[in-house]
Amino acid sequence: MKVREVIHNVYFIEKDGVRILATKSKYGSHYGERKIGEYREWIPSRSKLSAMFMKGYKVDIKPNWKVLYLGAASGTTVSHVADIVDRGVVYAVEYSAKPFAKFLELARERRNIVPLLQDASKPWKYSGIVEKVDFVYQDIAQKNQIEIFEDNARFFLKEEGEGLIMVKARSIDSTADPEDVFKNVIRRLKESFKVVAHDTLEPYHKDHIFVHVKKQ
Ligand SMILES: C[S@@+](CC[C@H](N)C(=O)[O-])C[C@H]1O[C@@H](n2cnc3c(N)ncnc32)[C@H](O)[C@@H]1O
Repeated sequence: MKVREVIHNVYFIEKDGVRILATKSKYGSHYGERKIGEYREWIPSRSKLSAMFMKGYKVDIKPNWKVLYLGAASGTTVSHVADIVDRGVVYAVEYSAKPFAKFLELARERRNIVPLLQDASKPWKYSGIVEKVDFVYQDIAQKNQIEIFEDNARFFLKEEGEGLIMVKARSIDSTADPEDVFKNVIRRLKESFKVVAHDTLEPYHKDHIFVHVKKQ
């Protein structure tokens, strides 16, 4: 078994001729992913952040970062982000009660996850709990997802902070050509942020891109 570090606590593991992504974790499996010794497989078809790393792009998330995660669902990706920021904290927002129940099981066993049953389009409602963060991560399939990201960044992102937004073309406009939707998204993000990189998440997630931004 060959192991190569990508960023803190994220590794490519080569086993039996197959390359997988994994996070180093002292915790058990959360969504049916394999445990390989001290590593937890990070499945790219289940997590857009894993897909981004699998495609060779990396965001150097630091172990002590404070993260605001928008669209936690049942915590698949949050569980890996929490492995990475093992000396930091993840404030994780989800507004749907059903996935939130499973997410709470995860948050109960991890000291660095703060679960918030809130609407991400109303950041003022959780501004009394969430502090200034180093990183805003968003995976929300909403028409106004860019506005939600901008608002949360305005409230919570530190001056030198970074963000990563997973954009689903069809939820912004179900009839337009995804390429046109992505062009508009990037043009809009450039008005408020420095766009560091963007790329598709194919073949893992159809009609999705990631956009990595920094505060100007
Ligand atoms: C694609 S899923 C997220 C998957 C998750 N990020 C992962 O990788 O494990 C999108 C989630 O965003 C949530 N969501 C959508 N709009 C929201 C809003 N305005 N506030 C909070 N959560 C929202 C949905 O309920 C859904 O659980």
